[in-house]
Amino acid sequence: MTQAYVLSFTKDVSVDFPAPDQVVIQTLDRRSTLKGLTPGLVRAITILSSQGASEDELSRQVAETDGESALARFYYYLSIFSKRCMIRYGISCNGKPMATLSPISAHFQFNPGSLDPESKYTLSRFSYLHRENEDPVLESPLSHGKITLHGWMGAAIAAELAGAKTLGSLCDLLKEIPRDAIELFLGMLLAAGFLIEAKPEDPYHGETRTLAQWDFHDLLFHARSRLGRHANRFGGTYRFIGKIDPLPAVKPASSGQTLDLYKPDMEKLEQEDYPFTLVLEHRKSIREYAERPITDRQLGEFLYRTARVKELIKHDVQDVSRRSYPGGGAIYELEIYVNVNACESISPGFYHYCPKNHGLEPLCGPTEATAALFKDAVRSTGLELTPQVLFTIASRFQRLSWKYESMAYNTMLKNVGVLYQTMYLVATAMDLAPCAIGGGNSDLFAEAAALDYYAETSVGEFLLGSKRM
Ligand SMILES: Cc1cc2nc3c(=O)[nH]c(=O)nc-3n(C[C@H](O)[C@H](O)[C@H](O)COP(=O)(O)O)c2cc1C
Repeated sequence: MTQAYVLSFTKDVSVDFPAPDQVVIQTLDRRSTLKGLTPGLVRAITILSSQGASEDELSRQVAETDGESALARFYYYLSIFSKRCMIRYGISCNGKPMATLSPISAHFQFNPGSLDPESKYTLSRFSYLHRENEDPVLESPLSHGKITLHGWMGAAIAAELAGAKTLGSLCDLLKEIPRDAIELFLGMLLAAGFLIEAKPEDPYHGETRTLAQWDFHDLLFHARSRLGRHANRFGGTYRFIGKIDPLPAVKPASSGQTLDLYKPDMEKLEQEDYPFTLVLEHRKSIREYAERPITDRQLGEFLYRTARVKELIKHDVQDVSRRSYPGGGAIYELEIYVNVNACESISPGFYHYCPKNHGLEPLCGPTEATAALFKDAVRSTGLELTPQVLFTIASRFQRLSWKYESMAYNTMLKNVGVLYQTMYLVATAMDLAPCAIGGGNSDLFAEAAALDYYAETSVGEFLLGSKRM
């Protein structure tokens, strides 16, 4: 192969030359001054900060300018640049850039080996192509790098690799692309974790047994919503401040008409309630109910103890609140919808819980869609009869994503778990029958509640009823 990877600094690296033998290198988090550099080293760094060159070409330039003895220092600097994720690797074809591999994590390494001409390779099921600004970018939760594609060639090779191919068969299929470029691109895909060797007899299709048990979307979500395997902004970045107004801390009622709910005497409960350890030890999922359904008083007490707003806190940036369960950033994006089948003194129908006024806002009577929500709950829990009350927990997603970047959805799911446990404990303390549900239909819920799926829809479900004593 005559072609080789073109090494250059990533776009986050800028270089300045304050003196003929000095270079100042600025990255996102570090500024380094290299002093006493030989002309060949300055030349190599100049090339890395502009058009780039292959490692052989860079070392040739250093050796020609400074002599062979300067090479050790050149390779030392190159290894430091690579370790600090400052180097990207490009492939050119017919004088034009075709693909660039850039590091996205501190664990990035690029050590391409040679391809076995007999082996068949296929794109990993974790690889995906998406648009970043105006570039198509190949990414994978298995990779510590990303590959920006320039022009059609990389995308054409990737598309053909949906089926297992040898290097030779790929070259036969894509005659317009020079063999060297295809070989380099395959080597890049393989070394960066986008490609696997297809082995027909392998039960895990080129993956490990551990990896085979990951869904594509789960691993991608995990990798991108935790720190480590990406270079995206992370945490409370408030990226929409000044561009989009934050949603209010409490969702405004749409009709203004609410059904007041019973408020328990909390001081009395603090004195007379079951002890905490007894509640914790006796908590369990109960999927059968007493004949007499739950009462409006019990429903009121349950919601009051579980989810009411205790305090609204006004902030210049984003209003928050205090409730009985903890919530990421005190943002409280979760809304509770109450689907009533049987509850004393409350008509069957679909309601939204107003956590500030502690009331139920009637949305509609039983409909086909609300019946379908019950049907899904029955299917998920193996119940024989329609349960008494189904809570659907919905999320006003933008409450969280207005503040948090990369971790908003992840935080929300944790909040759902926190609310589930609070519901379980309160139900146990009240001698009611609770059961969480792991799956529900968010499209169906958005239809039932007449909500915009992207603004607010279901992320959890919970059943409650009267307990058989
Ligand atoms: C996140 C989550 C999802 C659950 N999903 C379901 C479900 O879909 N159907 C069901 O019958 N129980 C569901 N459960 C209840 C569990 O099956 C139950 O908690 C588990 O078997 C332990 O039993 P215990 O709650 O009685 O201690 C879920 C519980 C949690 C926390």
